[in-house]
Amino acid sequence: MFFIYAFIVKTVTSIKNFYWRMVYQTYRKKYHIPESFWFGGEAIQFYGDGQIEIGENSYIGRYSSIQTSKGCKVKIGNNVAISHYVMIYTENNIADQDFNVKPRFTNKADVEIGDACWIGAKVFIKEGVKIGRNCVVGAHSVVVKDIPDNSICSGIPAKVIRQKNYNSV
Ligand SMILES: CC(C)(COP(=O)(O)OP(=O)(O)OC[C@H]1O[C@@H](n2cnc3c(N)ncnc32)[C@H](O)[C@@H]1OP(=O)(O)O)[C@@H](O)C(=O)NCCC(=O)NCCS
Repeated sequence: MFFIYAFIVKTVTSIKNFYWRMVYQTYRKKYHIPESFWFGGEAIQFYGDGQIEIGENSYIGRYSSIQTSKGCKVKIGNNVAISHYVMIYTENNIADQDFNVKPRFTNKADVEIGDACWIGAKVFIKEGVKIGRNCVVGAHSVVVKDIPDNSICSGIPAKVIRQKNYNSV
């Protein structure tokens, strides 16, 4: 019984992994993602008709998503680690409007994450935000404003809690 169960789990896992590998291949082609970029797990979503530009040796964790609207760009540097359940958007609804009416008014702007950043789990990054080089963004933060180089920030909204002493870039 155990062997049948183990076989089914292994087969389902292999099919799932294969499916996500195929999906990530389509992202690589569509957005010209370098081979050194690592999709670290399942259910990562890159979508939209804008651009996603990613440097070398960066990473994104499972269930994270990057949305890029037409005319917008998400730029991610080299050696960036984006944890799981991170959400990055170049377009969001304007809050103060009638939501019965469509199409809705939105704000659109590029997002940039500099080299050697670490973005913690479940971080939300709003349109127009630029996170400098060598920054850390704490888990569950909501980043609504630019973060200067070498900063450690956290919270809702994310604020700088201190500067990094160890500046690698
Ligand atoms: C931001 C972070 C790097 C700071 O770590 P640290 O240097 O050890 O900082 P400390 O724990 O000393 O906290 C410093 C202050 O920031 C606050 N803080 C730390 N992380 C926070 C977070 N994610 N959100 C809100 N506040 C946070 C602390 O409460 C503390 O506040 P205080 O000075 O008023 O007491 C860390 O807390 C974090 O969030 N890491 C991300 C972990 C993660 O996402 N892992 C997923 C696997 S990749």
